[in-house]
Amino acid sequence: MSNKMWGGRFASGPDAVMAQINASIDVDRKLYRQDIAASKAHAAMLAKQGIIPAQDAKKITHGLDTILSEIEAGRFEFKAALEDIHMNVESRLADLIGPAAGRLHTARSRNDQVATDFKLWVRDTVDALDDQFADYQRALADKAAEHAATVMPGFTHLQTAQPVTFGHHLLAYVEMAARDRGRFADARKRLNECPLGAAALAGTSFPLDRERTAATLGFDRPAANSLDAVSDRDFVLETLSAAAIAAVHLSRFAEEIVIWTSPLVGFLKLSDKFTTGSSIMPQKRNPDAAELVRAKTGRIVGALDGLLMVMKGLPLAYQKDMQEDKEGAMAAFEALSLCLAAMTGMVRDMTPDVERMAAAAGLGFSTATDLADWLVRTLKMPFREAHHVTGRIVAAAEKRGLALDALPLAAMQEIEPRITKEVFKVLSVAQSVKSRTSFGGTAPRNVARQAAKWLRRLGK
Ligand code: ARG
Repeated sequence: MSNKMWGGRFASGPDAVMAQINASIDVDRKLYRQDIAASKAHAAMLAKQGIIPAQDAKKITHGLDTILSEIEAGRFEFKAALEDIHMNVESRLADLIGPAAGRLHTARSRNDQVATDFKLWVRDTVDALDDQFADYQRALADKAAEHAATVMPGFTHLQTAQPVTFGHHLLAYVEMAARDRGRFADARKRLNECPLGAAALAGTSFPLDRERTAATLGFDRPAANSLDAVSDRDFVLETLSAAAIAAVHLSRFAEEIVIWTSPLVGFLKLSDKFTTGSSIMPQKRNPDAAELVRAKTGRIVGALDGLLMVMKGLPLAYQKDMQEDKEGAMAAFEALSLCLAAMTGMVRDMTPDVERMAAAAGLGFSTATDLADWLVRTLKMPFREAHHVTGRIVAAAEKRGLALDALPLAAMQEIEPRITKEVFKVLSVAQSVKSRTSFGGTAPRNVARQAAKWLRRLGK
């Protein structure tokens, strides 16, 4: 049997493999809510413009509402033979209301339909993700406020660099998440143009009111070029790019959680809620959630790569290749949402080992820069020279196996006679972080202020 929606010129049905490669219903059924909303907006506009009888538009709307409740109640039978969500819905509409259903597809094509549905889906998804990002930021800012004065080593090259505060470190991720939200918000603004009414590719001879359809569906305006409207997938590429960058941020933090919870480092503990055991080694507590956040970045970045490859070289306008836009993107956004939930949970769950962090913060001559700065400030030494003198003092301390603040004054004076005992005031870890008061610096006062600012801004 040929296809009942488009089979007029076909004598027989498709080969089984053709049907299998062609069907997208297992993926695009997730668009049912958006598909129904767009159809209702289209039907109402058609009636308003006198293109279809108002009576039929009413039947269509009721029928679509019935289908929505059937799907939500799990009573809808999705059929692969009907290819996709659009034809599944329209076919069921015909079962429910008869011939009036046939008027719905006036001045519309699946090409503008799918672009509209998927845009609406991406927009809903971006809005839900934004709420999750805000939760994640709140969790970070709460912890940061609590640990504004908790010292830890700051690293460059994963070597001890200078002492920082744990709160400051957490607030770095709040800033990243803010940029992530900004990227999504920016993409959302650009995507908010309605493709519906572009029809197959050329527009239509019917007197549509595209402004009206756009407004009904919450778009800012109709897309201005029908060819572009049906062939544009920038809205997926842009939001996937934002997702990929966000996932990279989360994976960096996840990696730090893995490092910090290792017994070799021991900065952080996660509770039973966010760790798992080993089936053979009874002593183990593994940070699997963090490892999986780190790993899921692969599929999110992969989805962006995949769609860029699908789109490259596609001539205008719609090509069936574009049906491959949904599966990877939907999985990617789902993964990002799960990663955000897991990271938010881990941030709330984590307990830093404050003593261990403080002890580590003092290792590795971490206050050497403070010594150099003291030489600059007190002895008016040029920084380059101060750097050199400090290097020699560090070497002397290292040779004796002493920390910088344990090196006797006499030993320092052998290298620079003008050093006084005042220098010891700047060599402690606590003093070091306290002195970092420049804007954006790690001083506990700065951190407390920034955390409070974020919590206010995040509405808490
Ligand atoms: N299932 C299709 C997709 O997701 C809908 C558009 C099909 N258009 C067509 N002319 N065959 O892209």
